[in-house]
Amino acid sequence: MFGNLRCLTCSVCNKQYENGLIYTCTVCGGNLNAEYNTKDLKLTRENESSYWRFLPLLPLPQDKIPETTLPVGNTPMVNAKKLAKAYGVSELYVKDESRNPSGSLKDRASFLITQMAEAHKIPTVLTASTGNAGCALACCAAASENVAATILVPKSAPAGKIAQLLAYGAKVLLVDGCYDDAFRLSSQMSEKHGLFNRNTGMNPFTSEGKKTVSFEIFEQMGCPEYVFVSVGDGNIITGVWKGFKNLLELGLIKQMPKLIGCQSSNSNFFIQVEKEMKEKNITNLADKIKYVHEHKGLASAPTRADSISASLPSDRVNAYLAVTTTNGYFVEVTDEEILNEIPFVSKNSGVFPEPAASCAFAGLRKVTKQVSGKICVISTGTCLKDVNAVQSCGLKGTEVKELADVEKAIL
Ligand SMILES: Cc1ncc(COP(=O)(O)O)c(C=O)c1O
Ligand SMILES: [Zn+2]
Repeated sequence: MFGNLRCLTCSVCNKQYENGLIYTCTVCGGNLNAEYNTKDLKLTRENESSYWRFLPLLPLPQDKIPETTLPVGNTPMVNAKKLAKAYGVSELYVKDESRNPSGSLKDRASFLITQMAEAHKIPTVLTASTGNAGCALACCAAASENVAATILVPKSAPAGKIAQLLAYGAKVLLVDGCYDDAFRLSSQMSEKHGLFNRNTGMNPFTSEGKKTVSFEIFEQMGCPEYVFVSVGDGNIITGVWKGFKNLLELGLIKQMPKLIGCQSSNSNFFIQVEKEMKEKNITNLADKIKYVHEHKGLASAPTRADSISASLPSDRVNAYLAVTTTNGYFVEVTDEEILNEIPFVSKNSGVFPEPAASCAFAGLRKVTKQVSGKICVISTGTCLKDVNAVQSCGLKGTEVKELADVEKAIL
């Protein structure tokens, strides 16, 4: 059922669990990480070009390729020459994850989770979501004959995302509260009634699906020096890290890329935590892991970049390790910088990032002087779900009525 999976290891206390559909560590509550028997494994299945070509490194039966019709993954890598020039960097590639079926990188996780539910004959998957993860699960469930989705989403989520959830036919519960409330409710619900929970940073397999983005980055551009990723719960950056770690284990890359975690200054858990650890003189890695794990979180995280709002990131230990063990760092940018970056990226590359995705570009802008070599920015989701975000940037068309106005405007 779990393919080449060897065990799940706790990111905090290192306790190992043999195969099983479990969530967090029963001893310390830490996130669990999947480990594989990578000896003699190949990254891809021969004669397979879909997302499932990475089956050897996914926790699924290996005897046959899953029968699914949804084209998840295989997203374009844009060699963004104009944008590189605009930022003043030499080689910039944009992995455009908005081209997944539901419009975000989250499809990679939900595709795997839905397939795991199929393999284990589980009829319903539940998740809390800021919008995209829910849309992804609802989309994958809509394409499945056997699995249905229930989504708990803050009722303040962008209307476009809620409409999308409903259109895919998911059971949508609008939570009178923030994402953390939706997370708590769905966790309690799945614990009490034994439902399969896809919650980000709780289900150890979401990052397994997300790591396929790193496999594709490697296929498309080799190993970059830097990867810029927006961070909320920290599960995407964890997935990116795991993907490159698998590539390292397989001997396909020699060195990990530096992972740069980008946050909104209104939801800047990792920036705050680093500051606190410095003030408290916590320097040893084991102590840092404990500090991050036991943290109670920010009082609130009211960023306009809704998808990266997380006062207590649920995959915080892994995200912290992803950045620090690759010699990367965290960058924070204001919401204003995030919003202004959307039209800047759009007009210089043709990629249209939603606020949460734009944060990674705004992060790159902050540190262009500190980076060199091949840079990859993961554009995690589309702004088509949230066009209001650009309407607030003060962009205006020119009003015309007569031919003379048109001539004046364009000649
Ligand atoms: C478009 C987009 N970018 C970035 C993120 C951040 O991912 P994570 O919460 O795993 O850090 C999300 C999460 O919802 C997202 O939807
Ligand atoms: Zn543990």
